[in-house]
Amino acid sequence: MAHEVTHNPLKGIEANTPDAHYGVYDHGAHVWAWRPAGSDPVLWMSTQSDFEAGKPIRGGVPVCFPWFGAGHTGTLQPGHGFARITAWELVEHSHEGGGLRVEYRLGNDLTGDQPDWPYQHQARMVVLFSDRELSLELTVENKDDQEFTFEEALHTYLAVDDVKNVKISGLDGARYLDKVAVDWATQEGDVTITEETDRVYNSTGAVTVNDGVRKLKITKEGSANTVVWNPWIDKSAAMPDFGDDEWTGMICIEAANVLDDAITLQPGETHTLVQRVSFA
Ligand code: BG6
Repeated sequence: MAHEVTHNPLKGIEANTPDAHYGVYDHGAHVWAWRPAGSDPVLWMSTQSDFEAGKPIRGGVPVCFPWFGAGHTGTLQPGHGFARITAWELVEHSHEGGGLRVEYRLGNDLTGDQPDWPYQHQARMVVLFSDRELSLELTVENKDDQEFTFEEALHTYLAVDDVKNVKISGLDGARYLDKVAVDWATQEGDVTITEETDRVYNSTGAVTVNDGVRKLKITKEGSANTVVWNPWIDKSAAMPDFGDDEWTGMICIEAANVLDDAITLQPGETHTLVQRVSFA
């Protein structure tokens, strides 16, 4: 796949042919486009998103690290951690098996002074774009001389025809924290979206998202949680970087390790979180 280093405001790597479109920004090592050949875009992007240093991007695949939301204290800022608003270092990009491989690195030299998470760390994000699959691999290494704990999520925004018709299978029987009701529950059958939905499932398995037009399969490794999020009407209206009516066209399915499943690494240890999106 022919690709180029782009000099858009957030820099990055992009392959844009009449057939397919792949894009990743240095900012957050953020995958913002995946349109496989012969398909509509698989990733959703808000028309109202900011594309500015220091601000999160509303769509694509934000990388949440080293905390999720407001973190274990409920007060940590910026939301979903500093990784998604930090420019990562592009390590390499190459043509691979008809697709595109892009590797990014994050470390203390790039994240600077972080009083809420003051540990020596290194993270690597490897993105493999092909026309069959988008593969995302986040590896975190403890470079410190003490243990550290972190949360993480690959916060994938999927484009759907109409979220009100979506069926998410693969979570039947899983326990989940309903962040809207602030209570735990057990999933019965497929997940359907009929109201604001913000759930952290205890689940390591694959999920299928069927919107009646196409079926996407999301598999993962090294992930104890699957987060399902759609903001529905009021929350969309309240978010300045989210169009009021755009909630019908998206669903987030996030491979994550959060809350009680936060990862603890001893000095020198690494952990890898993988998420893959393909056509079912
Ligand atoms: C989800 C969280 O992963 O991300 C939600 O579970 C949150 O609680 C959503 O609202 C969006 O977060 P943000 O910080 O991008 O607005």
